[in-house]
Formats: sequence, C-alpha cells, structure tokens
Amino acid sequence: MRARPTALTPDALARALARPEPFAGHDAPFWDDPWIARGMLAAHLDPDTDAASRRPDAIDRIVAHLAGAFPLRRGDTLIDLGCGPGLYAERFAARGVGVTGIDLSAGSIAHAVASARAGRLPIDYRVADYTTEGLGGPFDAAVLIYLDVGVLPDGPRDRLLDAVQAALRPGGAFAFDVHAPPRHRPPDGGIGVWRSEGGFWRPGPHLVVETTYRFGADLDLAQHAVVDADRITTYRVWDRAYALADLRALLRRHGLAVEHAWEDLAGTPRRRSSPTLGIVARRVRGRGRGPRSYPAAGTGASAIGNSTTVRIRSGGVSGSLR
Ligand SMILES: C[S@@+](CC[C@H](N)C(=O)[O-])C[C@H]1O[C@@H](n2cnc3c(N)ncnc32)[C@H](O)[C@@H]1O
Repeated sequence: MRARPTALTPDALARALARPEPFAGHDAPFWDDPWIARGMLAAHLDPDTDAASRRPDAIDRIVAHLAGAFPLRRGDTLIDLGCGPGLYAERFAARGVGVTGIDLSAGSIAHAVASARAGRLPIDYRVADYTTEGLGGPFDAAVLIYLDVGVLPDGPRDRLLDAVQAALRPGGAFAFDVHAPPRHRPPDGGIGVWRSEGGFWRPGPHLVVETTYRFGADLDLAQHAVVDADRITTYRVWDRAYALADLRALLRRHGLAVEHAWEDLAGTPRRRSSPTLGIVARRVRGRGRGPRSYPAAGTGASAIGNSTTVRIRSGGVSGSLR
C-alpha cells in the first residue's frame, strides 16, 4: 500500500531517509503526478538527454534492429508497453506495423495521440497499467523498453509476463531490456542533498534529499525525500538486475523462451561485463498458462520508474553530505 506524505518533523525526515523494506512504494503518485509528468514529458522529448527516453539516434537503431530480428512485416501487430510519448511506437508504425501503445501517464498518451494524428499514423493508444490489465491482442510482438522490468517486485512482474504471454500469438516475440549484475551500483547508505527554486519535483521552492541503498546482490534503491515548506514526500526508484541464466528460467516459467540476448536492444554483442541485457523471447507454441495466484501487489510499484529518471535535477543544486 502507498504511504502518504507526512508533516515535516525530525522523526518524519529520519524515516524518509532510512532503509525501507524492499520494493516499498512511493508516498504519492509519481508517473501520473501532473507536475512530475510535465517534466518527464519534456525529458522524453529532449533529443539531447537520455534521462527519460534514449536519444533519437539510439531509438532509430533499436527500432531498425528489432524490426529485423523479430522480423516485422507490413501489417504485423505490436504492442509498446510503457510507450511514453510514442517515440518507438511511431517508428514502428511508420514501417507499416499496426501499433498499440499503453502507458500510465495520461499526459504522455495525450502527447502521443496528438503527434500520431499530426503524422497520420494510425496508432491505438491507451492509458493503462500493464501490471494489472489484460493487454488485448493477439500481437506479433511486444516491446517494453528502457529497463522498466527491473523496477517491478515479483508479483507485478509475474502478472506482466503472464499478460504478455497471453497477448502474443504462438511464436510471437517479446523484447525488453534490464540491468545486469556488472552494472554500476549506487553506494549503500549514500546521501546527497540539493535545493531548488522550482524544477523536476515541484514548481516552487523545495529541498531534495536522495539516499541510496543496496539490497543483496541484485536490488538497488534511489530514494528521494522531497521536502516542501510543511511536508515531506518520499519517492522510491527501485532497480533490480538480472543475470541471463535467471532471466531464462523466469521467462520459461511464463511460457517464453529466450531467443536472443545482446548487451542492448540495438544488438550490441553481449560481453561478460555488459551492464545491461537486451532480450528477445518468444512465446512458446501451445496453449497459454492457466489462471494462477500471485503475491499481493501491495507496493504501489506499478507507478515507479527506472533509475534513469533520478538524474533529472533541473534547477537544483546537488551535493553530498559525506
Ligand atoms: C523510462 S520511461 C520509458 C518510455 C519509453 N519506453 C521510452 O523508452 O521512450 C517509462 C514509461 O513507462 C510508463 N510506466 C511505468 N509503469 C507503468 C505501468 N505499470 N503501466 C504502464 N506504463 C507504465 C511511464 O509512464 C513511462 O512513460
């Protein structure tokens, strides 16, 4: 369950900076907060930063590579999960693919709809949560791009993988990327603070205290306590790394078989030291999985983002207390 912003007291501040339970949720909406969503959309559309989406040339390379690897032909269908403002969806649609895009952020979807209309691209966009809703289909391919599988606890992740499997045709392809164990990790117990007169987190003056924690070998947290004049609100950005062997076993349990594993979705060859993995898995032929039960969601995790977003510090001053 999501916590709430709390009155600003020394105890509340101490709690906001402390190590939480793994996959604890945000205190308030993140992707669908109107102010944060505005800044996020601007970051998605900024061609000079990788903060929320990759830069245009990287997106071009990924779309060209995946279109060849799946492969996609005119008239095939694809669902883009967490499509944001449609940067990938439009490129796939321009190749004659029938694209559906879903995203939690109403602002990003509104932008995507307007942009597709302006470009006369017939893309079907929906505001939806891919960890809780059926995805429709059947699709020839599904993509989930920019390391977002890694933000999910087991329950929502397993629901997502079952929904993807159910939405694909037998033999259909699912492409996604994740961090891998050799990634750069934040310090365990790291802390930084910056003051802003208005920026990514809030329109007016506020202070941000960022703490970072490691949980075992795989899970990292960047925790942002945003301090307003009278309250404190904590946003938690989780990132779980996956080794390829663990991914193979996980996907197999969900009726998906790894076909390709690169360093990234542009097809860079994988090395032992690769900090990310770009995966294409296929729906195994035969019937989909039956109904099953899942651990309770309970974490608000469907609204959390990947660690790329935490680099956004517009208008702020950052520094370290240690
Ligand atoms: C890091 S951005 C990547 C966007 C896009 N894939 C790209 O690379 O340009 C993550 C996107 O996933 C969306 N998102 C996060 N959790 C989601 C969920 N549970 N269901 C649907 N969309 C989600 C966010 O709103 C955001 O647009």
